[in-house]
Amino acid sequence: MKNKKLDSLSPLPHISIAPMMDWTDRHCRYFLRLISPHVLLYTEMVTTGALIHGDRDRFLRFDEAEHPLALQLGGSDPGDLARCAKMGRDYGYDEINLNCGCPSDRVQSGAFGACLMKEPQRVADCVAAMVEAVDIPVTVKCRIGVDDHEGFEFLDHFISTVAAAGCRTFILHARKAWLKGLSPKENREVPPLDYNLVRQIKLNHSNLNIILNGGLTTTEQIYPLIRHPAGFDGVMIGREAYQNPYFLADIEREIFKNPSVRDRETVALDMIYYIKKQMELYDIPIKSITRHMMGLFHAQPGGRVWRQALSTLPFEPGAKPDIIMQALEARQRHLPLAA
Ligand SMILES: Cc1cc2nc3c(=O)[nH]c(=O)nc-3n(C[C@H](O)[C@H](O)[C@H](O)COP(=O)(O)O)c2cc1C
Repeated sequence: MKNKKLDSLSPLPHISIAPMMDWTDRHCRYFLRLISPHVLLYTEMVTTGALIHGDRDRFLRFDEAEHPLALQLGGSDPGDLARCAKMGRDYGYDEINLNCGCPSDRVQSGAFGACLMKEPQRVADCVAAMVEAVDIPVTVKCRIGVDDHEGFEFLDHFISTVAAAGCRTFILHARKAWLKGLSPKENREVPPLDYNLVRQIKLNHSNLNIILNGGLTTTEQIYPLIRHPAGFDGVMIGREAYQNPYFLADIEREIFKNPSVRDRETVALDMIYYIKKQMELYDIPIKSITRHMMGLFHAQPGGRVWRQALSTLPFEPGAKPDIIMQALEARQRHLPLAA
């Protein structure tokens, strides 16, 4: 195994935004980056099959502003994963992450995602192949258990086996996955969170970076988790970052101690330039970008008007980027669009 100079996490707190299929596409990531310069962003999961046989550039291209950026791969064949990790490296990603946590049926039939946790040696072989192929960190995102495979011994064995292959950073979604009977959505809600089990893993593997994921929604919650003496090396935030993206501004101010965070209006206005560019360069429909901006004024006065405007204006024929201005004005007036 090559001993990588990687995974020495930066001195800044390690806060990342979770890979989320259909949500964290490149437009969403650009938008989130305007709010937070410091969080680590992840792509949606991309399967090795899609990269090897599909339109690679469509899956991999991103804006330079998105750095630091990790590519999440879904797959279970060491050779294919190594090839795709290399593609990701060549495109300029900062990290390659292997998905060992996704419970969907489609993923199970492809023998990857959470079901891989039942085969630690196979995951180790995949990691070893990727580590050999690239000079950037190779990380693993997994659950704390799967079906009847659960508890400290199981998880500890999984982590030890995969760490021995060269993975230094594990992101643990602190709930197990039930592969039979629960939908992917239920698998993010029904199995209980167990932060203590993840903490035990950290205590037993002080040399590894253990990133906690699952159920984090406030800076008050996050702060002690990354500072306690036996604390985690970082946290990953999923749904809250998408549904309430300006939560990232709290993280910037309170955790990264960044005093100069864009206000919501500036974020919206800056998106106009991005939308223009995407429409010109790639003919991207405006609604594919604005759909990620719905939550910008979450729990703010006029938030409902903003959301309503973004649910209608981008769908009108010939919609132009200045619909963002219209939506902002509608919100300011605090009146429904029709008035
Ligand atoms: C819409 C959606 C799509 C997701 N897609 C992925 C994915 O592609 N890869 C992955 O590892 N996890 C995926 N997840 C799980 C999240 O990365 C995260 O582990 C989970 O939402 C728990 O974090 P949270 O409680 O902060 O949301 C997805 C979650 C959601 C809500």
